[in-house]
Amino acid sequence: MAKALSSLTPFFFFLALSTTIIVFFSAHATATNHRFSTPLSPKKLGFKRQKLSHLHFYFHDIVSGRNPTAIRVAESKTTNTSKSSFGAVSIMDDPLTVGPEPTSKLVGRAQGIYAAASQSELGLLMVLNYVFLEGEYNGSTLSILGHNAVLSEVREMPIVGGSGLFRFARGYAQAKTYIFDFKTLDAVVEYNVYVFHY
Ligand SMILES: *[C@@H]1O[C@H](CO)[C@@H](O)[C@H](O)[C@H]1NC(C)=O
Ligand SMILES: *[C@@H]1O[C@H](CO)[C@@H](O)[C@H](O)[C@H]1NC(C)=O
Repeated sequence: MAKALSSLTPFFFFLALSTTIIVFFSAHATATNHRFSTPLSPKKLGFKRQKLSHLHFYFHDIVSGRNPTAIRVAESKTTNTSKSSFGAVSIMDDPLTVGPEPTSKLVGRAQGIYAAASQSELGLLMVLNYVFLEGEYNGSTLSILGHNAVLSEVREMPIVGGSGLFRFARGYAQAKTYIFDFKTLDAVVEYNVYVFHY
């Protein structure tokens, strides 16, 4: 009996081994069919050469009148008594034009949120996308996430990404107030944007 078993041992061993091999290969096949991450050369997606572009435009923030382009959507009980309007949150869909006049050619829109996030100065958290409409840039976007100390001469905000022609974008936007109307609080801001992209 013991002899019969021992003569079967190689058979069991072979059975166990082949089962292991089958399980290993089928698991491996499943893994390759649902690959999560694959190394890729940039050229394969058409990213050949990184470029640096300078964009120049004017941003129109209209808060007064019947057709405001930026509207206050939230505030705290203490916002109105805060010297920095701390807690005010606005949504904007501000036109971007090639020149400073409101009638100048539209090149895009700044869509997003600005919020008074400083207790000591007029300092805005800016979270927005430039949605471009002009020529080859039509449909491409740049995403800004930054601090905007509105009363400073030049404010700098990081460009954290982009889409379309601006895939893999990074850079910075410099804002300079062109006109500020203290009565209506409407503003025109000149922007110089420097961006690396492909
Ligand atoms: C703050 O002031 C605005 C405009 O003056 C007013 O509409 C709003 O109700 C005020 N908010 C609070 C919380 O008092
Ligand atoms: C931008 O693209 C949209 C949608 O494709 C199109 O309707 C619009 O006419 C284009 N605008 C310009 C200025 O090319």
